[in-house]
Formats: sequence, C-alpha cells, structure tokens
Amino acid sequence: MKWKTKFTEITGCEFPIIQGAFATFGTHKIAAPVSEAGGMGVITAIAFRSPDKLREDIQKCKKLTNKPFGVNFSILRERGFGENFFDEMVDIIIEEDIRTVFTSAYKAMKIGQKVKSHGINWFHKVATMKHALAAERQGADGVTIVGLEGTGYKNPVQNTTLINMTNAVRQLKIPVIAAGGIGDARGFLSALTMGAQAVCMGTAFMACKECPIPDKFKQHKLVEQDAFDEDLHKKVFHLQLRDSAVPSMAVGVIDQILTVKEFINNIINEAELILQKMGFKGDSINFI
Ligand SMILES: Cc1cc2nc3c(=O)[nH]c(=O)nc-3n(C[C@H](O)[C@H](O)[C@H](O)COP(=O)(O)O)c2cc1C
Repeated sequence: MKWKTKFTEITGCEFPIIQGAFATFGTHKIAAPVSEAGGMGVITAIAFRSPDKLREDIQKCKKLTNKPFGVNFSILRERGFGENFFDEMVDIIIEEDIRTVFTSAYKAMKIGQKVKSHGINWFHKVATMKHALAAERQGADGVTIVGLEGTGYKNPVQNTTLINMTNAVRQLKIPVIAAGGIGDARGFLSALTMGAQAVCMGTAFMACKECPIPDKFKQHKLVEQDAFDEDLHKKVFHLQLRDSAVPSMAVGVIDQILTVKEFINNIINEAELILQKMGFKGDSINFI
C-alpha cells in the first residue's frame, strides 16, 4: 500500500517513519538501514566531534543507500555546544546535498534558516506547543513534538503525545510529527489518524539489530524491561532521566530484537491489516 502524508511528499521517503536522533551513536549504522527499509534514517551530527568525521559518515551512508536520509543538529547549550559549533558541519551537509535537516533544542533558527535558503527541508523538534508555534513562526517546514511518555527530550511542562497531537493539528499549519512512546503499528496508525504526518521513534529503533549499542542493553533494558516498573516511571514521567540513555514507555511494545527492515515491515503490514479489518480496501492511503 502507498502511504501518502505531507512528510512523505516533502522528503520522498516511502513510509512516514522517522528514526530518532541519538546523541552518541546516531551514525550511518542505524540511519542507512532505516532509509533502505523505506523510513527516514537520521545521522546525528553531535555524535561526531569533527566536521570531517561527519562527512565521512554521510559518505558511508550514501554507499549503503540511495534513498533519502537526514542529518540532525541538536544544540545542547548546557554542554557548551552553542549555535556556532555546527557552522562547518552545516556547510558539509549542504555540500553533500543532504535534502532534509532535523534540529532540536536550543536556538535552531540559525541552522534552520541557513539550510532552508539552500532549498533543504527543515524539521524542528520540540517538547511543548509553545516551542512548536515558535518553530512555525521561524519558518520550519514541520515540527516534531515529543510527548511526556517519550525520552531524550524533556520539559517540566511537557504534555502526553495524545494531548500534543490533539492540540498541534488545531493550532499549527505546518506538518506535525508525533514522537514519544510510539513503537508499534497501533501507535503509528493512531498518530497518523490524529493528524500527524509522520512518527519519530527513538527507543523502538534502539532495539533493532543494527543499532550500534551493546546487545545486553537491548535485551535487558528494552526487551525485558517492565514498562510498569516504578523506577522507569519516575525517570520518564518525573523527569529523572537527564543525561542518561533511559528508554521510554515504548519499551511496553518491544518484545524482540529485529532487523530494522523486519521492524518497519511489521509496523506497515500490521497497520495495513488493522485498516483492512476496519473495512479499508484501497491500495493507497492519504493522510494529507
Ligand atoms: C539514547 C538517546 C539519545 C537521544 N539523543 C537525541 C539527540 O541527540 N537529539 C535529539 O533531537 N533527540 C535525541 N533523542 C530523542 C529521540 O531522537 C526521539 O525524539 C525520542 O526517543 C522519541 O521518543 P521514544 O523514545 O519514545 O520513541 C535521544 C533519545 C535517546 C533514547
């Protein structure tokens, strides 16, 4: 089935599924297989401490896939990576003809507006509606809103993914991407039905075979993790996860380690099955 959303139209990827950025291990090793499987793979610039290393990784990714992939720039003010830290890296992605850039956190406008002036798509990630509206005013092509049940990105006044989507599609004109706690076909389809034009998953992709983190972590902290454990709940819902690789509530739907291709295919096949059960008979679906 053809999956048509504003995100697939803008970026040219087959499915409205984005792999989340990962500050320390978001390399081509996870981005290339995601793009190759029809999703949007994302290389995370902050994973590289030099512009040359980022270029090298982009070139490795290009050798593994001809399909579109993006680059994320996360400005982490508290760790001393100011707006200017990425200047040379931004020039590199322009030279390397990357077509989609994701930004997140502090003051991404400079990067966003520069890449836009080169015809590159700019999607910004936020944790609150206030910041989503600001990103729209600043010219972002779309905004990812991370819900409270998600990870990697927290704010004291964060809302759940359900509340975010309900409000965002009413208040924003630009495409909205849902993130936070999504890891299976039902979550994927629900987000699109609520008006999201794509989903972004971090925790769920961490459990994939290709993700360059230790297998032990995948097995113990993702597959075997009890989603209703009190400690996990405190970390995720009470913001006790700063600066650590804490998985999100998406662990509740992670029950095995799959290849990226198996994982994406499962989501798409199961979502199509749900739609068929509901009486949908078409061979393409349009969420625009
Ligand atoms: C270990 C880890 C590192 C992350 N690093 C970043 C980052 O550098 N930049 C960013 O924008 N998001 C980062 N994230 C957030 C993810 O990209 C994604 O938005 C989030 O995981 C979505 O929630 P989910 O895990 O419930 O799917 C990180 C998430 C994890 C788990």
